[in-house]
Amino acid sequence: MTLRTIRLILFITLIPEVLILGFFVYARIQSPPKAGRMIANALGIPHPAVIAHRGASYLAPEETRAAYLIARDLGADYLEGDVQRTKDGILVLLHDDTLERTSNVAEVFPGRQKDTIDRFTYAELLKLDLGSWFNSANPDRANDRFKGLKIQTVEDLLAIAEGGNHRPGVYLETKSPERYPGVEKDLVDLLTKRGWIGRDRVCADTPALIDESVIRPVRVGCGKAAVIFQSFSAESVQVLKNIAATVPRVYLVDEEMGARDGWPALVEKARSLDAGMGPVGYLSYPWHTGPAHRAGRLVHSYTINKKWQLWLMNQFGSDGVFTDRSEMALAHFDRVPPLDTKKLIAESVF
Ligand code: G3P
Ligand code: CA
Repeated sequence: MTLRTIRLILFITLIPEVLILGFFVYARIQSPPKAGRMIANALGIPHPAVIAHRGASYLAPEETRAAYLIARDLGADYLEGDVQRTKDGILVLLHDDTLERTSNVAEVFPGRQKDTIDRFTYAELLKLDLGSWFNSANPDRANDRFKGLKIQTVEDLLAIAEGGNHRPGVYLETKSPERYPGVEKDLVDLLTKRGWIGRDRVCADTPALIDESVIRPVRVGCGKAAVIFQSFSAESVQVLKNIAATVPRVYLVDEEMGARDGWPALVEKARSLDAGMGPVGYLSYPWHTGPAHRAGRLVHSYTINKKWQLWLMNQFGSDGVFTDRSEMALAHFDRVPPLDTKKLIAESVF
């Protein structure tokens, strides 16, 4: 093989490495990894924030007591939930428009599986099993104790957040708010009544069962960012800004909104709402996070469930992640030593 051929092979093999290195240098210039830290610190929000998306929803049925207890005891910063309202005005946590995917509604209320939550009373919803579907969908993580889990109200979630050694915050999305007129006021009134907003939260000290030399206890639920509101609806975020200006807000952005409006317009919308941004992962590249930070916007990306995605989001300047995998994210960010999640689930009382 001639020297010329060797040089050509070396040159060709070096091109990908140089391009990758160049990309990450560009990323750091376009979006300095810690640019959002100052914004987060000013708001009292941990950085990077680990947001338990629908609770620990990889390990347990989403938005159930089990998912939230596990997320809390893992040490997630926030317990995330989707707020909808029953026919009789109870604020409950459910992601989908209907109960079909995550309950036995077709069995208990035949013919009503396509009905939205506002068509059910809370007493009717309590007749449903919101846990068994998880066992069928995830045989490797099935647990008999998930059977019969009930729908959670926002008040149930607050009690969970208040009841452990960690004190997580709550990250509440007004889901399909157009279906629930006045839901923002209902939510603010409830949180105010329960002392979660409207005055500085002071938590009664928790039992010192956390070995603080091993695990940094979560205390964000005792501070000015104990609650974060979020919504895909700019109108809903605007109402929340009007009635609860001191509560941090996040304007959620999906791919469809990105394609329709363009990132600069979405950043401007978030700025006008005095809100952070909650983009889907594909809208969390440096050319997204950089301009958002320069406009003073926090960036929490969703839904980040793989180690390489966590690493990349951090490299690209994301200030926190909505994740089904709190246990993985907390270990990735060196927040907790690797936890025995099976033991934690076995010890949880749900
Ligand atoms: O709320 C953040 C993230 O959950 C938004 O997407 O559909 O999971 O509510 P979704
Ligand atoms: Ca959500």
